[in-house]
Amino acid sequence: MSFLETLNVKCINELALREKRVFLRTDFNFPTDMQGRILDMDRLNRCVPTIKYAIDHNARLIIASHFGRPSGPKDTGYTLEPFAAKLAELLDMDIYFFEDCFGMGALQMVKDLKPGQILVLENLRFNEDEKKNSTAFARELAKMCDVYINDAFGASHRRDASIVSLPRFVDTRGAGLGFKEEVEQLAGLVNLQRGDGFYAVIGGSRIEEKIGIIRPLLEIADKIFLGGAIANLFLAAKGCSLGGQSFEKEKLSLAEGILKSAKARNVGIVLPTDCVTAESVNSTETLLSEAGKVREGMLVLDIGPKSLELFKSELEGCKTLFWSGSMGLYELERFSQGSLGLARIVAEGRFRKIAGGGDTALVIKNAGLTGSFDMISTGGSAVLEFLRNGGMLPGIEALK
Ligand code: 3PG
Repeated sequence: MSFLETLNVKCINELALREKRVFLRTDFNFPTDMQGRILDMDRLNRCVPTIKYAIDHNARLIIASHFGRPSGPKDTGYTLEPFAAKLAELLDMDIYFFEDCFGMGALQMVKDLKPGQILVLENLRFNEDEKKNSTAFARELAKMCDVYINDAFGASHRRDASIVSLPRFVDTRGAGLGFKEEVEQLAGLVNLQRGDGFYAVIGGSRIEEKIGIIRPLLEIADKIFLGGAIANLFLAAKGCSLGGQSFEKEKLSLAEGILKSAKARNVGIVLPTDCVTAESVNSTETLLSEAGKVREGMLVLDIGPKSLELFKSELEGCKTLFWSGSMGLYELERFSQGSLGLARIVAEGRFRKIAGGGDTALVIKNAGLTGSFDMISTGGSAVLEFLRNGGMLPGIEALK
């Protein structure tokens, strides 16, 4: 019995789709650089098997996703329109696009959709009710469909309307093929406990989110390696000078609390010992510095070679490694060596290797090492929440 079967969650290939209006929730939250330019569209490819399955079975397919964190309905940098065109190219067929994600216009487009045709809706987050998990909004979305499919594993830890409320208003619901594959691969890890040799590498730039991830990790991980902006916070909490970069008191005390809890539980927290710094992200001149001695006014933008050596030696004893988040501003070559170096070190390790999230997947792809990992999940935070909650996520619960 598969893991989803034990939860009584169906997969798309167990549902009748013929001529039905199928709402497919995808995760087209592509990684972008500081200018908002798309760096990689692998997440589009990952939904293709489910999309093909639906249209091969004569569904009228409606695709909806979020992209980024837009500030309002007309934050045009986050429109999904170009991806509808890209998808049309990938599938070699015409695809319709509608400039909103619900309402009379969208309903009319759905009505006109013939079996085997595809309509892509505009970014769900252009409507603030998506993030607010509004029931009224979910009911509006539900008017468009007979079947709901979630193929957005990477967003299924979010209590957004299209993830948790919409499926409740649709009688027939299930998981997409990509979603199912990810869940089944991760299911073998849900009983991890401290002492099992589970190590996690957490990086990236979103400090608030990463703090939220680290605390629960203390319950299952034996060692946590930190890089990127979150490492700077922990270094500062340990009293290291970071070139004048300061953090809010509240965040520092959260980091101090985590360091104390880690110590009490005997969980190792491994921090960078050196870093690549520059006056600004645009400066081409970089300076290597000890982690505690960053020159005033310099920004910490990557981890250095000594940190990589330390990380390599600290991987001793690892049985399963989960990596989410880059070690620095990897989209710029001069700040990418920490992330690429780590990808090489992990790839050589004799342990199970799982990576998650768009940025991490891209770093590994840029290092040419995708094939060396046991699994590259679309989800970063989603994977950690899945492992911490014994294989449950809001988006899985909603499919029952
Ligand atoms: C992701 O890329 O991690 C998911 O799509 C979730 O996106 P979010 O963090 O903006 O909710």
